[in-house]
Order: sequence, then C-alpha cells, then structure tokens
Amino acid sequence: MRRQAKGQIHERITAIPNAWYPIYLVRGAEKNLVIDAGVNLLGPRYRNDIREILGDDQPLHDLFLTHSHYDHIGAAGYLKEHFPGLQIGAHERLANLMQKPSVLGLMNGLSANHVDLLKYNAAGVDLTLRPFDIDIALKQGDRFDLGGLTCCVHETPGHTKDSLSFYFPEIQALFPGESAGVLQGRTGSEIQVEFLSSYQDYIDSLQWMISLRPEIICLGHGWVVSGKDAEDFLRRSLAATYHYRELIENYLSSAGGNAQRATEEMAHAEYDVKGGIFQEKISYVTNLNAQVRHIAGLSGL
Ligand SMILES: [Fe+2]
Repeated sequence: MRRQAKGQIHERITAIPNAWYPIYLVRGAEKNLVIDAGVNLLGPRYRNDIREILGDDQPLHDLFLTHSHYDHIGAAGYLKEHFPGLQIGAHERLANLMQKPSVLGLMNGLSANHVDLLKYNAAGVDLTLRPFDIDIALKQGDRFDLGGLTCCVHETPGHTKDSLSFYFPEIQALFPGESAGVLQGRTGSEIQVEFLSSYQDYIDSLQWMISLRPEIICLGHGWVVSGKDAEDFLRRSLAATYHYRELIENYLSSAGGNAQRATEEMAHAEYDVKGGIFQEKISYVTNLNAQVRHIAGLSGL
C-alpha cells in the first residue's frame, strides 16, 4: 500500500503535514517522539497539530532528526521553544554544523524559496533558523524505550554523512529520512535517487534496509509505503540507484567529462522536460551537481 504522508498511519504513528515535508509523531505508552522537523515556515502548523493530537496534558519528550538538511531540521528550534523540556537527538556531526553561521545562512536562503508556505505563518512569527543545541548525540545501536515501542538508531550514510534511520521493531516501522530515496512523479510512482555524500554507502544502507524487511516505511518526503509495497520500494530503489549511476556516466561521457555541462543537460532532460519532481529546482540542481561530481570521481570520467 502507498499513501500520502498525512494523517494516521498506524495506531502509534501520525504523519503531520504538509505531506511533502512531513514530520512523524510516534506515541509510546510512556513517551512521545517526533521524527524530523521539516521546513521552518511550517513550524506553527506542526506545533498546532502536535498539540491537537497530544492534548494539553501530554508532553512531547523527544525530537530525533534524520539528517542535516534544511527541510528536515527547519522547525527544530521553534518546536524546542514551544514544547518545554523537549530533547533534540541527532548525529553529532549535525550538532557541529548547526553552530556554523555559513550553514545556517545557506539553510535560511533555501527556506526562503518556499513562499507558498508563508500562508501557514499568518501571525508573521520570526521563523529564522538559528543555532540550536543537540541534547542527545545519536549513534549506531542506541535504543530508546518509549513504552512498548523501542526506537533503534541506525547510521545509514550515503545521502549525507550524518544520515540516521529509526526503526521500531515491535511494529516493524522504519523512518529512513532520505537514506532510501524519495518517491517522485505526479503519482509517487518514480524513485528519486538521493546519494549525495557517498554512492557506495548509499548502496550499503539500502541493502541493510532490505535485509530488515520493514512492514511500514515512513519516507522523508511525500509518501508512506507498507506491506508488499515497502519491500518493492526498497528493491526498486536499489535498482534505480544502479541505473542512475549509469545514466550519470552517460551524460558525463557525452559532455566530455565536464561535470557542469553534464549536470545542466541532465537537469534539463529530467527536471524540465520529464517533470513531476516537486523539489525546488535550485535544490534539485545543487544535489544533482554533487552526484555528478561524485560519480565522475568514482568512474574516472
Ligand atoms: Fe536530505
């Protein structure tokens, strides 16, 4: 089954929209955890939805971040401000990045492209991304008991060096952020391959996820897949990654090894002509350029 990332996914999991930048609320018997913090401009919307689900008497205990991209950490500082005692957990690399003015400047620039999301901030709250502290440095093998649900932390690099996936064995639910790729196209039927820091790490991470055989996969953008579709998605994502490398190599060859030209030609064909990609074009091209350069280095092109 494939459904949009909004609303109740499981009796213990709710996807808080918008669906393209969802955050996931996981409720154990004793603790409540949110996975990812989406885009800064959606902060008030996330907060209201969490409050509505938890009511006034239940606290939000933890916020775990899958990786250090602006559209996954955007409302972290805002949520920490509005949920007293909230503990933020992430890879320790992310903690260092969040203190760098240049990184925050870049993230604020990318966030500002989302003019369509300004409508969710009718009160005109200042949602600028500012440095925030990581309270829990998450690493491979960490386990957190939420009461009947255990959040198991796995390092799944490849999309970024600090990518983490969270797995709840009791309900076989996996939250890979973008470590497993993203479903694209108008109906979410196509896979966007997302390795940025390392092609090989990305493959290794996907193979680990396949071996896990999750029943539910709550993707970092857009969609939740479950049952047979969860297994199919991971296998298709692995095949798409091999294919994508070949595609990049072909563009590099026809551009005479010029990574910039290969990126421009591929972006035109894939983004402008083929279409169906909801990511902002500037982010798409930036990421594609990183992938093309990485493959050029691996393939000696
Ligand atoms: Fe990302």
